[in-house]
Amino acid sequence: MNFNMTRSSVLICFLMLCSSLLIPGHCHRSLPKKHVALFIFGDSLFDAGNNNYINTTTYSQANFWPYGESFFKYPTGRFSDGRLISDFIAEKAGLPLIPTFLPSYNDKFVYGVNFASAGGGALVETYRGYVIDLQTQLSYFKIAEKQLKQKLGDAEAKTLLGNAVYLFSIGGNDYDAALTSNSSVLQSDYSKKQYILTVVGNLTTVIKEIYKTGGRKFGLSSVGASGCSPAWRATMNGSSGSCLETPPSELAKLHNIELYKALEELEKQLTGFKYSVHNFYDSGVEIINNPSRYGFKEAMTACCGSGPYRGISSCGGKRIGIEEYELCDNPAEYFYFDSGHATERAYKLFAELMWSGTPNITWPYNLKKLFEHSGA
Ligand SMILES: *[C@@H]1O[C@H](CO)[C@@H](O)[C@H](O)[C@H]1NC(C)=O
Ligand SMILES: *[C@@H]1O[C@H](CO)[C@@H](O)[C@H](O)[C@H]1NC(C)=O
Ligand SMILES: *[C@@H]1O[C@H](CO)[C@@H](O)[C@H](O)[C@H]1NC(C)=O
Ligand SMILES: *[C@@H]1O[C@H](CO)[C@@H](O)[C@H](O)[C@H]1NC(C)=O
Ligand SMILES: *[C@@H]1O[C@H](CO)[C@@H](O)[C@H](O)[C@H]1NC(C)=O
Repeated sequence: MNFNMTRSSVLICFLMLCSSLLIPGHCHRSLPKKHVALFIFGDSLFDAGNNNYINTTTYSQANFWPYGESFFKYPTGRFSDGRLISDFIAEKAGLPLIPTFLPSYNDKFVYGVNFASAGGGALVETYRGYVIDLQTQLSYFKIAEKQLKQKLGDAEAKTLLGNAVYLFSIGGNDYDAALTSNSSVLQSDYSKKQYILTVVGNLTTVIKEIYKTGGRKFGLSSVGASGCSPAWRATMNGSSGSCLETPPSELAKLHNIELYKALEELEKQLTGFKYSVHNFYDSGVEIINNPSRYGFKEAMTACCGSGPYRGISSCGGKRIGIEEYELCDNPAEYFYFDSGHATERAYKLFAELMWSGTPNITWPYNLKKLFEHSGA
């Protein structure tokens, strides 16, 4: 009798301790009530360090100075001077920074997992051997799903996965790879269209797989105006002025049309499917063409790199053969941090547009609505 009473009072004490300590690894019941997990898939726009752990070249890694200099004060693997769009979205959702899937299982996976890989595409062929493609990211998600079920039990894991938001940035590298190393697929309008449908088709397949495991809420950033980047300006021999009609811009626009169509189709096919897609192309062009309106001094030349527009991807001096590079004093004045990636300040603006943007730019819901919506 006495023994039992002692045991239950110890148990009560333990539960109270748990909920006051808020240590998810030790007591998951202490998670904040409105906790909505965030699972992140995609490319360098969202890669928070997965590529630090794969066998690749420094072209798809950013784990050296001055990457990270403004916020983390050390290089994390993020292609920016600080936080990425996905980091700001986690913050707005009241979550901690979402841990990367690599190198291994992490107790903090209950807040979500980041699977994104710089250079990664929807197609397995894109930079194969150097990146974690979207199919492989999906297989990692399935491993994380098993780990969550072991940790939380089936029922609670199911609720978590059903309420979670699944965030994607994918496609840009499929078009870059095609333009730089496999342009045969882009020779006719017909083959271009086929290629785009293949890219969107592979993304759709992954979304459907996540839906099957219980995922209902999907946030997407469409393909951005990478043709406005310092890398492309340099390739196009120094055309300055407003954002250019470059080959990647044309492909991005065509891709986005097909992406929007595919999402409407999914909404019809899949009960309970909800999405938010940000027109990353239009928002990027708007900011790059009107930098001062958004508080930037420079939106053509990168903060870090070499050559015209600092469009050579030499930031950090670690990439093959190019050790010399220039670095600006104040990244916050720049839109681009390196030849193809934006500064933390620019990413913060995009995150705000994805989080609370109006339907003309973030459609049909913004991420804030998506997070508030109860999934299951
Ligand atoms: C990494 O890739 C290089 C070049 O492809 C190869 O020589 C090396 O064995 C690989 N290392 C590992 C650990 O897979
Ligand atoms: C080029 O594209 C073709 C057709 O899509 C594909 O079969 C092939 O694997 C691609 N090659 C490379 C190097 O990506
Ligand atoms: C996915 O991509 C592969 C090429 O990697 C292609 O053969 C396949 O048809 C695509 N799937 C869809 C559904 O479009
Ligand atoms: C840019 O200039 C280089 C060298 O002068 C030339 O080989 C290349 O074709 C030019 N590219 C374009 C897009 O004009
Ligand atoms: C979208 O609408 C908002 C508010 O109505 C407006 O301020 C903004 O400029 C519009 N954005 C675009 C890209 O048209």
